[in-house]
Amino acid sequence: MKIVNTVAELKASIAAFKQQNKTIGLVPTMGALHQGHASLVSRSVKENDVTVVSVFVNPTQFNDKNDLANYPRTLEADCQLLESLGATMVFAPTAEEIYPEPDTRQFSYPPTDTVMEGAFRPGHFNGVCQIVSKLFMFVEPDRGYFGEKDFQQIAVIRAMVKDLKFHLQIVPCPIVREADGLAMSSRNTLLTAQERQIAPAIYKALRRSVNLQQTHTVEETKQAVINEINAVEGLEVQYYEIVDAETLVSITDWNQAEHVQGCITVFCGHTPIRLIDNINYK
Ligand code: PAF
Repeated sequence: MKIVNTVAELKASIAAFKQQNKTIGLVPTMGALHQGHASLVSRSVKENDVTVVSVFVNPTQFNDKNDLANYPRTLEADCQLLESLGATMVFAPTAEEIYPEPDTRQFSYPPTDTVMEGAFRPGHFNGVCQIVSKLFMFVEPDRGYFGEKDFQQIAVIRAMVKDLKFHLQIVPCPIVREADGLAMSSRNTLLTAQERQIAPAIYKALRRSVNLQQTHTVEETKQAVINEINAVEGLEVQYYEIVDAETLVSITDWNQAEHVQGCITVFCGHTPIRLIDNINYK
């Protein structure tokens, strides 16, 4: 497995792969890899001749300086895992390499990037589009792999792909969960033992709410999830929205959309750590 740090090295390798007509899968990550990332990489290895994994904590998508400073960084362990999974290449650049000049590009795909995370983390999706568009331009992948834990991120990236006419397939991959249901996330390593114990209540409430759907309105179901999670000391729901899975617009009636998703963000503990999750209703 090759590890490169510069765009020039990355592009030279990509050009060689393209000359040999190899298909390329790209797995963009911010490192601190876990089994959720591993599932994306394994899928890409299965579906492509070449798998490129980027490991870059992208500063432009953080709207909170502490969050950026505290984000876990474990490049050596990440590379060991990626090698064992059969990745072809790791791209681990510095911020200066990616942004030699400030990136002033503005991306706007309402409503996908203005609701939920877009409303609570201003600028976040603009930063995601800045880095992901650069990666798509550098790697020119046939397929890009993204985890469904960041359900809204996939919708925003799809909108950007359509807008900028990138020629690739976006491959959404299912959430990987711990045995107790907690969605795997690099941020889970920041939880204290006590916080880690209460965090699974988020998915428990989501799971239970799928049954409520038969007998309760959208609003009642939404409130039941919020109340159940807020009743746990140390957890506080920032938002819970039940939305049309394509447009991400909130619905008020179960029949309003063909596919319906519940998307949640919860503050856990004193720091607090922000945990996100989602569930499909239909
Ligand atoms: O989902 C993530 O880890 C990041 O948002 C991504 C897609 C790697 C862009 O920095």
